[in-house]
Amino acid sequence: MSQARNHCDAESKNRAMWDEVAPVHLRAYGEVAKLREGREFLDDIELREVGDVKGKSLLHLQCHIGTDTLAWARRGATATGVDFSGESIACARQLAKELDLSATFIHANIYDVRSVHDERYDIVYTSKGVLCWLRDLPEWGRIIAHYLNPGGFFYLMESHPVIMALEEEQTGNLAFRYPYFHKDEPTRWPAGDHDYADGTYIRQNESAEWEWSVSDIVNALIDAGLQLEFVNEYEKLFFQMFPSMTIDDGGWYRLPQYSSKLPLLLTLRARKPA
Ligand SMILES: C[S@@+](CC[C@H](N)C(=O)[O-])C[C@H]1O[C@@H](n2cnc3c(N)ncnc32)[C@H](O)[C@@H]1O
Repeated sequence: MSQARNHCDAESKNRAMWDEVAPVHLRAYGEVAKLREGREFLDDIELREVGDVKGKSLLHLQCHIGTDTLAWARRGATATGVDFSGESIACARQLAKELDLSATFIHANIYDVRSVHDERYDIVYTSKGVLCWLRDLPEWGRIIAHYLNPGGFFYLMESHPVIMALEEEQTGNLAFRYPYFHKDEPTRWPAGDHDYADGTYIRQNESAEWEWSVSDIVNALIDAGLQLEFVNEYEKLFFQMFPSMTIDDGGWYRLPQYSSKLPLLLTLRARKPA
């Protein structure tokens, strides 16, 4: 199979998987319940690192069912979410309507969105489980730069690329199982996985993921003309990636056994020159 057809096949399998789980997540995401109760769920790190969004325009790439998009809208941003899963966008629009929150949701692959949406934004934001679904990170960097106003910034919060290479063994020790460095062929995952938000739900669709290293991420943004303002690494994560993780008072998952030995979370901010 040619590289382009291979990528296209992986993307369409991923889209089917996200379409499948979107309604499951609308029922199971704790964020949905918190939105309904008017409670904050954006975390302390992103609130501090993104800062005040009141009166700013914000583009959320890979918004899924729109929970984070709507949380930023509730904080005063003029928010737009993009996702290639039609079911996810339908859930996001349903949620916005139910909660009477104003946000725009665009159904598009981020690699095609420039042909259907022509706006510029103060902030481009993406977070929590996004990069592994992307086939081309240099192009992702160019899309981000395209959508930013001069002087605007991009913010990323993501699982640290190093932990994507690890698997926990029965002993509780972590072992290197998967590639760290990018390769063109994605890692394929069969159907039958338990969903991360509703553990009782078994996914019917297979999926495919690409690995991206820290240097791939940083260089994609630099090559697109953005200036890095910070890169941060943390010893806590937004979901229970490994069975032996414990949850702290702030709702972050930690690995006590590997305390001070392993980064779990990566954040960065990069600005388009004014
Ligand atoms: C883990 S979710 C997004 C994370 C979000 N923080 C959340 O949990 O609600 C990943 C999303 O990326 C979307 N996605 C994957 N590849 C995409 C692409 N090429 N263009 C647009 N959306 C994409 C999927 O449809 C899915 O909704």
